[in-house]
Amino acid sequence: MTDPEALRRRALDALTTARARTALLTDCVDDGELTAQHSPLMSPLVWDLAHISNQEEQWLVRAVAGHQALRPEIDSVYDAFEHPRATRPTLPLLAPAEARTYASDVRGRVIDILDSAPLEGRPLTDAAFAFGMIAQHEQQHDETMLITHQLRRGPAALTAPEPPAGNTDGLPPEVRVPAGPFIMGTSAEPWALDNERPAHERFVAEFFIDTVPVTNGDYLRFIEDGGYRQERWWAPEGWAQIREHDIGAPLFWRREAGQWLRRRFGVVEPVPEHEPVLHVSWYEADAYARWAGRRLPTEEEWEKAARHDPVTGRSLRHPWGDEDPTPERANLGQRHLRPAPAGSYPAGASPLGVRQLIGDVWEWTSSDFLPYPGFVAFPYREYSEVFFGPAHKVLRGGSFAVDAVACRGTFRNWDLPVRRQIFSGFRTARDAVAS
Ligand code: AVJ
Ligand code: FE
Repeated sequence: MTDPEALRRRALDALTTARARTALLTDCVDDGELTAQHSPLMSPLVWDLAHISNQEEQWLVRAVAGHQALRPEIDSVYDAFEHPRATRPTLPLLAPAEARTYASDVRGRVIDILDSAPLEGRPLTDAAFAFGMIAQHEQQHDETMLITHQLRRGPAALTAPEPPAGNTDGLPPEVRVPAGPFIMGTSAEPWALDNERPAHERFVAEFFIDTVPVTNGDYLRFIEDGGYRQERWWAPEGWAQIREHDIGAPLFWRREAGQWLRRRFGVVEPVPEHEPVLHVSWYEADAYARWAGRRLPTEEEWEKAARHDPVTGRSLRHPWGDEDPTPERANLGQRHLRPAPAGSYPAGASPLGVRQLIGDVWEWTSSDFLPYPGFVAFPYREYSEVFFGPAHKVLRGGSFAVDAVACRGTFRNWDLPVRRQIFSGFRTARDAVAS
């Protein structure tokens, strides 16, 4: 077991890192922009801000420490299940200044609680789990708020340095993953969420997977080949969606004077050819793969390509090994406001040589979001369990907008197959041909 003081430091660091990012995302716009509805798909930023602290209060102040509620009357306003996103602007929300005061009041209590909470003997606090869960929750909403920033109109409010260069010269286009069992999921990772558990063995047949994510240049060939006009590439619901909404390119793209442009956090720029494609739905990813004579990888194929070490037979925490992410290994944490070009991050390659699995873009898989054998909802059914089923598809690997604390080889994200405002891309796979 890790030393409790080290766990406390790790938890404090994760909470502090998340709060700095929340401040960055909410201090760069004025109160009018914090309370505005930038898109019916998203909450006003000020809702996310107070929801983050309300969850922190419920889990750390009340459930962990057993303290009385600071503001019990607001729980229902910040309950994501009671109020769909589109209706949140009409709720009696805390004003920006009140939300900030609430956030710092809750955080002040939490820092005291973390100082003295026993970190073993109770599942919720074992290895500081609840603190890690709340840091991940805040980071997930920071990604959600970054999506709101991307949907927002008007001049740029955020800036960041450019990601490292990269190229695919000399890289094979695909990697062979040999047939055999591997360990999927985890029982050992202390802050893994309920849907990543437990570790279990799966047999995966031999397959091939793209070395790097599908790029804008690749995707343009699908567009230029009339991919959006040919029903044969599309799942029926996907075909219906692109007809109904007149979709002919990834979200935020437009064609002007013979050139493809995109809007990215308030800046309009030519679509960069070598960057992984972003803002495509599962249906678009699925159609592209079919057009290319390939398919999306299943979730278990993705995880085997990312974690399986063929030399030891072990599954690694991350593609590069068991060490935490670093800026040399993966594009995470909103350090850059875009994916890095394909072929970047050689230090982040998996043992089999697959690149950019962690960070850059969330990768759609062909799989429905389902529980692993032996799944137990913890600590609340509304994190994962209520979303299990065929309505949601699994995304893996995390985007440039995911923080390291909320990203690992076992992490599972999910969304509806129509979603395009998320930081989603994909890579393709194919069966091995029997010889
Ligand atoms: C795991 C990203 C699908 O944002 O809906 C945030 C995370 N759960 N608050 C979401 C979450 C509760 C969730 N995703
Ligand atoms: Fe939430």
